[in-house]
Amino acid sequence: MDNLFDAAQNGESREDRLAELSSQVAVCTRCDLAMGRTNTVFGTGDPNSPLMLVGEGPGENEDATGLPFVGRAGKLLDDILGAVELTRDQVYLTNIVKCRATLEDGGRLKNRPPKAGEIKACNPYLEAQINTVKPAIILCLGGPAAKTMIDKDFRITKDRGQWYEVHGAKVMATFHPAYVLRQRGDDLQNTKRLVWKDVQAVHAEYRKAMEERGA
Ligand code: URA
Repeated sequence: MDNLFDAAQNGESREDRLAELSSQVAVCTRCDLAMGRTNTVFGTGDPNSPLMLVGEGPGENEDATGLPFVGRAGKLLDDILGAVELTRDQVYLTNIVKCRATLEDGGRLKNRPPKAGEIKACNPYLEAQINTVKPAIILCLGGPAAKTMIDKDFRITKDRGQWYEVHGAKVMATFHPAYVLRQRGDDLQNTKRLVWKDVQAVHAEYRKAMEERGA
């Protein structure tokens, strides 16, 4: 596993490095999530983007397609990005775990949050993605991503919208789009307003990073 961190240095392109990591993930058996998956969901987008988005993990639609954020939460994520005139192709999008976590409920499989051991087992892949893409800005979507990336005691309602320095990147967390979709009435309006505010701040940093690159 250590060589996951090293190989990116030797002149390999980001695209090649990510393709290599993705094929390692595709056959990964580091935790039990491997047994229930249809597809691994590695990540998509621009490996040269200054902005990386990190979600929680694949759900049913993502497991079926192998692509991140393709269900209802993904549609909302596109709208959130669209509000600051970004598309998912302009950012790098991944999750803290690359396989769907499920539980059985009345004979049906339901999504569940990944367990600590599953997140830990998958973390070297996320770290390798970060070391390859080297984003200037990381936006964590939801509490589990923030706890993994920023601090184990992170509280999304209290600590979202603040900047932290991690892996040489400016890191912020906001509410997960699936959480936004579960809100109703005033809670929905308030949650949306906070997400919009966070995304504006992230976009300001994105523009700064692009200007620094002369883009
Ligand atoms: N929720 C996530 O956190 N990630 C996905 O890829 C889809 C839904």
